Amino acid sequence: MGKLEGKIALITGASTGIGLASAQEFVREGAYVYMTGRHQRELDIAVAAVGKNACGVPGDVANLTDLDRLYTQIGGERGRLDILFANAGVGTFEPLGEITEGNFDMIINVNLRGLLFTVQKSLPLMKNGGVIVLCGSTNTIVTSQGLSVYSASKAGVRSLAHTWTQELKDRNLRVNVVSPGPTDTPIFKKTGFPDEVVQTFIDNAVARVPAGRMGRPEEVARAVTFLASDDSGFIRGVELFVDGGMTSL
Ligand SMILES: NC(=O)c1ccc[n+]([C@@H]2O[C@H](COP(=O)([O-])OP(=O)(O)OC[C@H]3O[C@@H](n4cnc5c(N)ncnc54)[C@H](OP(=O)(O)O)[C@@H]3O)[C@@H](O)[C@H]2O)c1
Repeated sequence: MGKLEGKIALITGASTGIGLASAQEFVREGAYVYMTGRHQRELDIAVAAVGKNACGVPGDVANLTDLDRLYTQIGGERGRLDILFANAGVGTFEPLGEITEGNFDMIINVNLRGLLFTVQKSLPLMKNGGVIVLCGSTNTIVTSQGLSVYSASKAGVRSLAHTWTQELKDRNLRVNVVSPGPTDTPIFKKTGFPDEVVQTFIDNAVARVPAGRMGRPEEVARAVTFLASDDSGFIRGVELFVDGGMTSL
């Protein structure tokens, strides 16, 4: 029997990277998974990659109407939600002095505002014993030049988890954060910077990782599955780093 047998799960931003790997791991462990992302084609490919017990619902976490539609569908089809992995996130590099209003709004809208309303709007469907996992980053506590807005958004996620752990205790809902280090996903290419700039950023990041390499999405997914399962039943309000030791330095 899988660790998530019979559970109904939602993973936002599940069309690529950590979200997709988590959807695959959740289904292997017996869950049925709703997967979201903004681009229908990528989402269709991702759902096909999961293969069974998964459904794609296109939508933007920064759009509250999309979130309402998503939860109306889950409520209508399943009547409840057992696990929420609020994973959708974006980032780009902009040093202080060059931060644009557009990129500031985009990052905060998705990583903080979108995550907050993803969680808030899930609550009517979450039953006693439900689990919420938020996606943070090592950038909650370590610095990277050019990532101040992204890092602030992720530090905000960690703060939300602390407050929500208190606010949701009477409903027996557990909230935890998974914080990946540099992980080999498409997120870097999506910054729009030239390949050599992206590669330099990755090389500099990996140089700070005692494991000496990037993480793999499946490695983060296994940690998310741990936080989503009863194996972590007495764990609340933690930030679990999956970072090859980066934050220990
Ligand atoms: N990779 C790393 O090194 C690393 C390190 C630390 C933390 N993280 C965090 O891990 C999470 C997943 O990132 P990843 O590395 O797996 O990147 P990724 O491969 O780019 O995946 C991001 C996912 O989020 C979706 N997404 C982005 N904006 C969205 C929005 N507004 N609404 C709904 N879905 C949205 C993307 O699909 P669409 O673009 O189609 O919407 C995609 O499915 C993020 O929160 C990221 O900050 C990543």
